[in-house]
Amino acid sequence: MSAFGPLRAGAIAPDLVRAPAVVAERGCVLGRPMHLLAVTSSTNDDARRGAREGAPNGSTWVAESQTQGRGRQGRSWVSPPGEGLLFSVLARIDCHPSRLPRVALVAGLAVRDAVARAAPRATVRIKWPNDVLVGGRKVAGVLVEAVTTGSTAHAVVCGVGVNVHARSFPPDIVHRATSIALAAEGAVVDRAVVLADILAGLDRDLHVVLDRGLGLVRARLEAADALRGNRVSSDDGDGGLACGIDDDGRLVVRRMDGVLTRWSSGEVHLEH
Ligand code: BTN
Repeated sequence: MSAFGPLRAGAIAPDLVRAPAVVAERGCVLGRPMHLLAVTSSTNDDARRGAREGAPNGSTWVAESQTQGRGRQGRSWVSPPGEGLLFSVLARIDCHPSRLPRVALVAGLAVRDAVARAAPRATVRIKWPNDVLVGGRKVAGVLVEAVTTGSTAHAVVCGVGVNVHARSFPPDIVHRATSIALAAEGAVVDRAVVLADILAGLDRDLHVVLDRGLGLVRARLEAADALRGNRVSSDDGDGGLACGIDDDGRLVVRRMDGVLTRWSSGEVHLEH
């Protein structure tokens, strides 16, 4: 069910129909041209195809629903039509692949800020490397995929899924998921505005952070870090105290023996 009532198959709800106009009004590079689709397999696949076929920097694919939406680590991303914000933005870059972890974090920060704006009374945090949480539950995720030749990344696709209007979730995720609508305590939420806010944040920070590291967004990142100061563990059996995120986007963890380690990827669990 969309926020506007039942959505007929193949339709796009009014708040998403306005997205190209609302985004264009902001005057950012990212978000234009915008391809607004009722249904697609995965907007990340659309953007990757666009990257191969010469789509310009900033091209963005937004879908009302996906048949094969995917998340990190082989998981699927399911969002009923009318409820989520599902999009992928293509940024043409030119950097060493070692800089790519910064992209997921700066995208996560842009999503965090947009969610916080839509739900001003909620505490919105980033869980390294790519989750955005409200009250410990996931409200959004970021999937970054790069187009790389040899030791150069030429393009990056930033796929974002945000639970916007959902008020209920399937049993397997009901205890882990939330939405902006739930966090906003009844306030009206507009997906076009959330999208425009995310793209504007990314537009402002992406290239600065790629060129100069995460230092310039350090204060915002630290304030939003859901893991810092908590005990964490990885799927590989490592664990320790999360001490923050370094300028390259790695999670800094102090092991029980006092040694500082840096984690580059993987799933992190908060120990309670
Ligand atoms: C995650 O939390 O694991 C990342 C989820 C990313 C989902 C979005 S929805 C739009 C874009 N298209 C996809 O297939 N995935 C991303």
